[in-house]
Amino acid sequence: MNGLVIAVDGPAAAGKGTLARRLAAELGLPYLDTGLLYRATGRRVLDRGVDPRDAPVAEAEARALTPADLARANLRGSEADMAASAVAAIPAVRAALLEWQRDFGRRHGAVLDGRDIGTVVFPDAPVKLFVTASVEERARRRWLELRAGGIAADRQQVQAEIRDRDAQDANRPVAPLRPAPDALVLDTTSLDAEAAFATALALVRERLDTASR
Ligand code: CDP
Ligand code: CDP
Repeated sequence: MNGLVIAVDGPAAAGKGTLARRLAAELGLPYLDTGLLYRATGRRVLDRGVDPRDAPVAEAEARALTPADLARANLRGSEADMAASAVAAIPAVRAALLEWQRDFGRRHGAVLDGRDIGTVVFPDAPVKLFVTASVEERARRRWLELRAGGIAADRQQVQAEIRDRDAQDANRPVAPLRPAPDALVLDTTSLDAEAAFATALALVRERLDTASR
């Protein structure tokens, strides 16, 4: 599988990361959570006390990212979620992070998850998955995760925030959230993580099989 790039895109809390990580382990490929790049950029801008929609500051912070930024503890939660989505709508921020993602994938192949992997970062990837689920189910999953982490969030509020972020990600002019024309759409609303993985793996094998014929 060396050299293979698999793109996993989709809306918030659809199970992209869980699925991409398992596919990577199964296929012996490196894994990259590209959302972390936007989250870490948003965090750096917030730490400066600046509005994350400030394009020059956000671009400078994206260019100054270090591996240590990606390992920080405070990259989740509603403030971090919205800051990530705000900096992600700035074209100069996306441009600053693009080559880094491409270099990562080109080195040994990889499974990358995000919003625009199949449309912009690796438009020629032989396998593209668009993982989705109803907003109610995605909010339930995120709420359960928060609860498991000891955070008593309001489920309706979690759902409203996911809805807002999806709208912002899908309506931006640059690299909007949408399936690539050749993406395999996987609706996991009624699939648990195990079933989603089995279905995705079968789709990947089928696609690779067809491609090699
Ligand atoms: O990366 P993304 O935000 O799309 O989702 P995630 O961080 O992988 O989180 C999804 C959560 O839903 C995890 O707690 C999973 O255990 C759970 N889940 C899933 O990933 N896939 C399903 N088909 C069902 C549940
Ligand atoms: O895990 P979840 O789906 O909630 O979010 P994430 O994948 O960590 O991404 C956080 C934010 O970064 C998203 O809401 C997008 O605005 C942005 N993002 C993006 O624009 N492009 C990517 N390839 C990955 C993330």
